[in-house]
Amino acid sequence: MFKIPHITPRRLPSVLRRMPKAELHIHIEGSLEPELIFRLAERNQVKLPHASVEALRAAYDFQDLQSFLDLYYAGASVLLHEQDFFDLAWAYLQKAAADNVVHAEIFFDPQTHTARGVPFETVIKGLHHACQRAHQEFGLSAKLIPCFLRHLSEEDAFAMLEAAMPFRHHFIGVGLDSSELGHPPAKFERVFAHCRELGLHVVAHAGEEGPPEYIREALDLLKAERIDHGVQAVHDPALMRRLAEQRVPLTVCPLSNIKLRVFPTLARHNLKSLLDAGLCVTVNSDDPAYFGGYVNDNYVELFAALGLDARQAYQLAFNSFEASFADAATKRAWQHGLKAFFEGLREHD
Ligand code: ADE
Ligand code: ZN
Repeated sequence: MFKIPHITPRRLPSVLRRMPKAELHIHIEGSLEPELIFRLAERNQVKLPHASVEALRAAYDFQDLQSFLDLYYAGASVLLHEQDFFDLAWAYLQKAAADNVVHAEIFFDPQTHTARGVPFETVIKGLHHACQRAHQEFGLSAKLIPCFLRHLSEEDAFAMLEAAMPFRHHFIGVGLDSSELGHPPAKFERVFAHCRELGLHVVAHAGEEGPPEYIREALDLLKAERIDHGVQAVHDPALMRRLAEQRVPLTVCPLSNIKLRVFPTLARHNLKSLLDAGLCVTVNSDDPAYFGGYVNDNYVELFAALGLDARQAYQLAFNSFEASFADAATKRAWQHGLKAFFEGLREHD
């Protein structure tokens, strides 16, 4: 590796914020800020259980993944029209551009919307137009990944895929999210096999709250190209060696893991152990409106808590490009830009 200048802890946050990066684990419905929830509720005449923005924010005190998901799905109920999905994604993409995200692979949960009678077409067209505008205005490349809700059935997942296929050109792959415990990846082996036959990229949440065995299933049965979260891998040394050797990316979300009590504090987060073991770890925001920060906040707070340095900043941003689904030449160009950014930093200014 080239020589990375020494950056003082005082200067590091600014470097983290300015460095170019990719974000690979963001649920667009999880970027729905309380202010926008209330604005859309009024626009669409949807009644909300909370009296104000403040009351809603005060309810963001989660015990685990499920207690978060209950509020997250309730929040999404204000999204009805194509314009709503555009507004949602555009708000995120403006923040991402300000965070120097040059590439985003964005999850969305179609079944949350189709179950309320909102057609897949409405959802994806709104999101897609926001992605197009981000590319035009910021040069930010934004790609979409619909996720299957794992608490629903295999049959429901196949129905989602059927509804999605007319819009195949608007998304790059599929994911698997929602309540992990009790819903192992094995449940979706056949639908993922079909997705791979269709040439879609495949990723899956595994090892967020669930055991290392779910990560193995995601790799062996779903052939997942990336593992979302994956932090429970540390409990299985053989799995750790496999993830390192095969450079299977983990899209880790530090603030999410604290808010959902996967770790008691950021200082106890295991991201440094994962990096030190040679895994292709990346830093992401998951559901930034609910977890107290966008991607740069995740970098800055994590680095302060774990005492990480500029070399690790470079490595994590490098990994974010390596782990993306862009073509090889584009990844190289982004990594070259990242190197140039670090080479441009002076030791003492
Ligand atoms: N959907 C939105 N955020 C999620 C998370 N952290 N885990 C599983 N499903 C999700
Ligand atoms: Zn997630």
